[in-house]
Amino acid sequence: MDTNDRYLTLNDGNRMPRIGYGVFRMTDPDVCENAVAEAIRAGYRLIDTAAAYGNERAVGAAVRGSGVARSEIFVTTKLWITDTSYDGARKGVERSLERLDMDYVDLLLIHQPYNDYYGAWRALGELQDEGLVRSIGVDNFTPDRMADFLFFNDRKPAVDMVECNAFYQREVDRRYLHEHGIAMQAWSPLAAGHAELLGNDLLSHIAAAHGKSVPQVVLRWLMQRGIVPVVKSANPDRMRQNLAVFDFTLSDDEMAAIATLDTGHTCFSPRDTGEAVHAFLEQAMDYDV
Ligand SMILES: NC(=O)c1ccc[n+]([C@@H]2O[C@H](COP(=O)([O-])OP(=O)(O)OC[C@H]3O[C@@H](n4cnc5c(N)ncnc54)[C@H](OP(=O)(O)O)[C@@H]3O)[C@@H](O)[C@H]2O)c1
Repeated sequence: MDTNDRYLTLNDGNRMPRIGYGVFRMTDPDVCENAVAEAIRAGYRLIDTAAAYGNERAVGAAVRGSGVARSEIFVTTKLWITDTSYDGARKGVERSLERLDMDYVDLLLIHQPYNDYYGAWRALGELQDEGLVRSIGVDNFTPDRMADFLFFNDRKPAVDMVECNAFYQREVDRRYLHEHGIAMQAWSPLAAGHAELLGNDLLSHIAAAHGKSVPQVVLRWLMQRGIVPVVKSANPDRMRQNLAVFDFTLSDDEMAAIATLDTGHTCFSPRDTGEAVHAFLEQAMDYDV
């Protein structure tokens, strides 16, 4: 694997950029459109949205207005829980394409492993054959769920997108996914800007040794593990900074030192009990997608 390559090849033969730009929580359409336009100007070629983010229209407008060919920009969107079924998937994808005002998306992910994701997967396979979605994948699948999914489906997900950062490293997940040829994307790679991560002493020390920032070290550390970070910044300077991660290499010792920061726990609300999942699903059913 050459981590300085700007693209990696997915298990379906499609190419995906090694770092992406995400728009979660950017609900104001003008803010989102301007941010995506700026991100594309900065050089991002992977834009990550979702039906549930409520900003597909703004993303589509920014991509169209960017002056960069559609074929050069890798657009990901995601199917929400309420559409995660055989019938729902087709309708959900059609609504996403209408909002994006695009003929296809590059990557369609099942956003959460709830509801009838087996039915949705069959529908996504058909949509892939029809060319409406180029690659298909899943999101927030843990290795046990992925093992079940791989065992009982013919079509393999190209991608699994999971929370991954220096405090929640997911090495077991990474190994399992890579053994099965599935690309791993990291969401919230900076733990959504968590002050403890950005101010961490070890990361600051490594960053200073390379003349880089802590976010750059974390993004580079993910890339050297073969993981594709999807990072958000509303600030043009930080957008550019986060992309400037192809010109330095962390040593084996530095990689090993960062490995000691793993807590093994999510940086966000855990969904590790029935009650927590129930509460999440209650909210999820109200999303307007
Ligand atoms: N699939 C899923 O279930 C899922 C879940 C969550 C997120 N995601 C995806 O992952 C993307 C990224 O995750 P995220 O938005 O939660 O968080 P993130 O990328 O980990 O962190 C974003 C935060 O870090 C700050 N930041 C970014 N670059 C920085 C830098 N160089 N220096 C200092 N601060 C910096 C940003 O502030 P400024 O904007 O002020 O720079 C923002 O507050 C999302 O936008 C979304 O596309 C997916």
